[in-house]
Amino acid sequence: MRTHLSEWQALAQHAQTARELHLRDLFREDPRRAERFSLEAAGWLLDYSKNRITQETMERLRALARACDVPGAIRAMFAGERINRTENRAVLHVALRNRSNTPIRVDGQDVMPAVNGVLERMAAFARQVRDGSWTGYRSRRPVRNIVNLGIGGSDLGPAMAAEALRFYSDRRLRVRFVSNVDGTHLAETLLGLEPVETLFVVASKTFTTQETMTNAESARRWLLRALKDDAAVSRHFVAVSTNREAVSRFGIDPQNMFEFWDWVGGRYSLCSAIGLPLMIAIGPENFFRMLDGFHAMDRHFAEAPLEKNLPVTLALLGVWYRNFLSAESHAVLPYDQYLARFPAYLQQLDMESNGKGVDRQGRPVDCATGPILWGEPGTNGQHAFFQLIHQGTALVPADFIGFCRSLNDVGDHHLKLMSNFVAQTEALAFGKTAAEAAAEKVPPELVPHKTFPGNRPSNTLLADALTPDALGALIALYEHKVFVQGVIWDVFSFDQWGVELGKVLAKKVLDELSAGAEPQLSHDSSTNAIVRRLRARRYPALE
Ligand code: F6P
Repeated sequence: MRTHLSEWQALAQHAQTARELHLRDLFREDPRRAERFSLEAAGWLLDYSKNRITQETMERLRALARACDVPGAIRAMFAGERINRTENRAVLHVALRNRSNTPIRVDGQDVMPAVNGVLERMAAFARQVRDGSWTGYRSRRPVRNIVNLGIGGSDLGPAMAAEALRFYSDRRLRVRFVSNVDGTHLAETLLGLEPVETLFVVASKTFTTQETMTNAESARRWLLRALKDDAAVSRHFVAVSTNREAVSRFGIDPQNMFEFWDWVGGRYSLCSAIGLPLMIAIGPENFFRMLDGFHAMDRHFAEAPLEKNLPVTLALLGVWYRNFLSAESHAVLPYDQYLARFPAYLQQLDMESNGKGVDRQGRPVDCATGPILWGEPGTNGQHAFFQLIHQGTALVPADFIGFCRSLNDVGDHHLKLMSNFVAQTEALAFGKTAAEAAAEKVPPELVPHKTFPGNRPSNTLLADALTPDALGALIALYEHKVFVQGVIWDVFSFDQWGVELGKVLAKKVLDELSAGAEPQLSHDSSTNAIVRRLRARRYPALE
């Protein structure tokens, strides 16, 4: 068990004194603190000096990483070992963006020719859509609307990245994402679209996911109502999946299927064919630049020693707060409107990976695992929930993500944005003492309310501009951070059995909701009553 490790116990001991440290003192005592606790890789600066750590904290955390064999785990992942043991699969999202094209083997077979082959097919298809030569069924009209139908990892990655890289996108194309099984999502998205100008990308690793298949069936009906010929489907639907059989059962031409593999986890699949709508939006060259960024961070992760390794450092800081200073959540605060969906994307990446309660031997874990991850872009969050981070009782370590240059140089907006970015981490770290408030002539009765305790930790992540490669490197940074934390917590980060029970129960409830005759209900009294009420009020036709 992790807490039995002497390195763990040493950290717990060390935390007792570290709890007393204040960032004000740490910075006063060491004028070179920022320099000492900053790292750079793949175009990103990480300044982690505004954390409640000392050199000793970091050394002890790295000792824990060694005791948990983080270096060995990194090697095993890159070597294609079946580290996803509960699903008996390798974990090789790094192969998808292996731009140096060195062989990466699964069961002795180099996967790079297949990876490169799919990327080439995607690029050829994306070019056809972008240059207007992919036209609607029996029409000369080019496809202008691309609607991705997918959910979870088959939605959040491309949806987040299409927004993040919108600056680079072809504005003649409208790329949209429908995920929710709520018919409103599809209906509102299709409103006003011309079927003959619309291409659906059905994105599902398994091609069985209820939400995606329901949306795909409804989209097909919508298309055929207008085009009135089943043959139109092959012109207006393409698929991204690992399940060739189910794709052709749906009626999609296998020629129009873009494949990926079971060694790509859903939430790690953006660089696979799941990125197709993104590639159509921003073009293959920009997509490849994004892969370059991913690859640069992958190389750094695989090669840099622990003390210079950005993903490892972020992971260890997270472990420090989660396990030794009892933080329950972690905020991610991008100061860039294009990154509005980044926190939602990270929620799946982090919480589906490390939201686990048993260790690799199947025993209940003896330490806290994945934190609750949340966030919103700055400066919006400042006018909403920052109050709690500054003065509330919860410790919320936060990552501030920003860029030196804006892609939209509008007046002095960027200077104002970034002045807030800087000021917030300063205010969080150093606060304002009661004496300082009093010296500002704050009425005595208001002094406690206008005092800021400070000592609230943050990381600053800064790149020059939000380019495709900067985005790729940023995503890879978080992917590897999550991986390292999973190793330290001794959980399996690449399965997600926790989502299964609800799916199974929903099937049963669906039968009950849609049954003609009043069904025999055998749930608890609450669930029975809700089902009855839904039947009574939602389905008058069933009476
Ligand atoms: O329900 C969780 C999940 O399995 C995710 O892990 C996955 O990304 C998502 O559903 C979608 O799955 P699929 O790509 O197979 O439709």
